[in-house]
Amino acid sequence: MPGRVISRHVYGHFAEHLGRCVHGGFWVGEDPKVSNVRGVRSDVVEALRALRIPNLRWPGGCFADTYHWRDGVGPRERRPRMVNGHWGDVVEDNSFGTHEFLDLCEQLGAEPYVSGNVGSGSVRELAEWVEYLTRADDSPMAASRRAHGRDEPWRVPFWGIGNEAWGCGGNMRAEQYASLARHYSTFVRDQGDNKVYRIAVGPSDGDYEWTETMMRSFDDLAADPDAPAGPFQALSLHYYTMTGSWSDKGAATRFTDDEWYVALSRASVMAEYLTRHSTVMDRYDPHRKVGLVVDEWGTWWNVEPGTDPAFLYQQNTLRDALVAAVHFDAFHRHADRVVMANIAQTVNVLQAVLLTDPESGVLVRTPTYHVFEMSTGHHDAASLDVHLRDVPTVESDGRQLDLVSVTASTRDDSALVSLANLDIGSPVEVVLDLRGRTARCRGARILTAPTPASHNTPHSPSAVAPVVFDGVREHPRGLLVELPPHSYLAAELQLT
Ligand code: AHR
Repeated sequence: MPGRVISRHVYGHFAEHLGRCVHGGFWVGEDPKVSNVRGVRSDVVEALRALRIPNLRWPGGCFADTYHWRDGVGPRERRPRMVNGHWGDVVEDNSFGTHEFLDLCEQLGAEPYVSGNVGSGSVRELAEWVEYLTRADDSPMAASRRAHGRDEPWRVPFWGIGNEAWGCGGNMRAEQYASLARHYSTFVRDQGDNKVYRIAVGPSDGDYEWTETMMRSFDDLAADPDAPAGPFQALSLHYYTMTGSWSDKGAATRFTDDEWYVALSRASVMAEYLTRHSTVMDRYDPHRKVGLVVDEWGTWWNVEPGTDPAFLYQQNTLRDALVAAVHFDAFHRHADRVVMANIAQTVNVLQAVLLTDPESGVLVRTPTYHVFEMSTGHHDAASLDVHLRDVPTVESDGRQLDLVSVTASTRDDSALVSLANLDIGSPVEVVLDLRGRTARCRGARILTAPTPASHNTPHSPSAVAPVVFDGVREHPRGLLVELPPHSYLAAELQLT
């Protein structure tokens, strides 16, 4: 039976002023050596348009709570500089600011998600940013926007009320932040027909107390099923996958078989966090009005040798691709609560989908990129209930890990089934038994490579890339697939 719609927004992205994500990743400014449109890299835009990226979060992350938007508008040569204290203490020249970000979103066809500064900003500063971006008339902020060259307001639906208030966003206690979130949200207003969706800082990992405190701070959510949640509409959740500890997170490309499974086992914890945070939320919000926005997720490894430790630059293998598959599976299963998710981060930082080579300028699509591309059919499709039977498992990191991850969605008379074989060394046979419908495979593609640590580089950009797969066969109960070890498959089915 088709279930809830999988919002395309769970395939969202994140761009922070961190390392080479914005500068050198999205933005090359006046650099004539790299093809660009008004300073935005054209190859990056083209690659991301193929993913149909639905939204882009900016300017941070931790950076957001140090960012003062007025420093990033007006003539570039007159913009003040600032120190990016969280990420390498480098000097930020503010050449990529509000207008450049919104131009990037327009080039991408993505909806903007702006993170407001609660940690070191003011209510007035945030309220005026909303007015500057989204107001149509001749208000002071709208007039200022026009003076800087943009007549029409932009549509900016998503607003973050700070970031990680429990940490880099101000080291606040939950009660303290809950009050501030109510206060700031009040001044993030709809302007004309720009309707805002306010995302308050939620928990990290399994911090259920933070969720509980934030949920308690809502106006009565249970009383009227039709009254919208307020004064904010969603809580964020941040969770990163690593095989070690925060001080030694594990290497991106040199890992043991054991570390392969630890990474996937820890990725599978996302599903547990979603279930348990949702359960806490249900107690206050039985009508499920408050969304969960997983606006930072992904792998976090030790940086590549020889790169700046503060720039969080890492490679990306088939293991990362399967971590992504496990996350999408979890987001789809929780489609009634998870309204948005943002991988950290899009270019050159953490589990990037794109890497740009600083010397040659070559753009590389990572294995994670391909999982996003192979999943575009799930955007806004109805989720299908999937039950796995007799799945092989492995014990890793103190839990039983299912070695097959599967998710499916349907639209009209077609279905998209995504299957991952998490077994590092053995193939697995899966029978797709579609109750009540007959299915024919219209086409399938597979992402795999000779070794689990295979990855793409400027010299070998397609070492891991999807290829046509003709191994989906008819079976008395439906369809039979033999998945090679460490692989990800997307099969399009015709339903009758
Ligand atoms: O994504 C990198 C950082 O991780 C973000 O700035 C912060 O929000 C989180 O701790």
